[in-house]
Amino acid sequence: MPDFWIIGPIAWDFALYVDRLPASGHFVQATESAERPGGTGANVATALSQAGGRVHMVGYVGSDTAGQSMMKALTAAGVDVDHVQVLHGRTSSVVLLIEPNGERTIVGIHPDLLHNITIPVAAVAPGDIIYFAAWRDVFAPAAQAMAAAGALVTSVPPGTIPAMRYLIGSRNDFTVIPEKTTAIVTEGANGVTVYSAGRTDHFPAIPTDVVDATGAGDAFAAGVLWEISRGRPLVEGVQLGLAWAATTVRVKSSMPTEAPANQPGIKKQKP
Ligand SMILES: Nc1ncnc2c1ncn2[C@@H]1O[C@H](COP(=O)(O)OP(=O)(O)O)[C@@H](O)[C@H]1O
Ligand SMILES: [Mg+2]
Repeated sequence: MPDFWIIGPIAWDFALYVDRLPASGHFVQATESAERPGGTGANVATALSQAGGRVHMVGYVGSDTAGQSMMKALTAAGVDVDHVQVLHGRTSSVVLLIEPNGERTIVGIHPDLLHNITIPVAAVAPGDIIYFAAWRDVFAPAAQAMAAAGALVTSVPPGTIPAMRYLIGSRNDFTVIPEKTTAIVTEGANGVTVYSAGRTDHFPAIPTDVVDATGAGDAFAAGVLWEISRGRPLVEGVQLGLAWAATTVRVKSSMPTEAPANQPGIKKQKP
């Protein structure tokens, strides 16, 4: 099985469950609050590792307690953190305002430094799966080089380099649907639409009780990557992604906690 290289944000989340979003100048009382691991890159890495994959996290933390907590969380999930860089500055942190329908609104707290990370291009082997969980234009040369070395490179939009195999992201993040790659577009409660080689295929979401939609797209992307890594057809990846997303939205967590490991057909196979 190929290794996964997940490039993207690692963040400490402050989740506040609220009855409604505050209007300008108003007060809202959280009904519940929690601090917890998150960040779109860390969420994907955790899901794949819990499913049994060999996963390398590429991102950064600051030298602060949030960074230590995230390193601990990733390590506990079995993710390789050798390529997590400690940068001068603060670990990403966000406030999540989560409404009763599970929808979350995000406020980032510290300046983003993701563009400053070094991508370990030479460590990647042919056949490995790369996923840019956040795209920065400075990543383009590294992405191109890894594709040239035989890795399968995927990204969230806009992630548009000529060698990009799949773009996976929410509808809001696609300004255009690119023609030369396969675009896998998530649409919240409406499910997913796949655009590939002139075809359009829609897949409905799996109905479930939604309490916290944080990380739904990350769990979905992880499911897609998992099936791709096993050489399965994309349709099966989308179906597994939908299943992992459904297990994520019904728990109060940013990460797909233990859900993926319980999916049928997946055996734990740690190195
Ligand atoms: N409110 C919801 N009800 C049911 N399924 C949902 C809901 N929100 C997300 N999902 C599932 O998670 C997937 C990804 O969610 P989406 O909201 O599109 O991503 P993001 O996390 O980027 O906002 C959806 O395609 C769907 O399968
Ligand atoms: Mg959403």
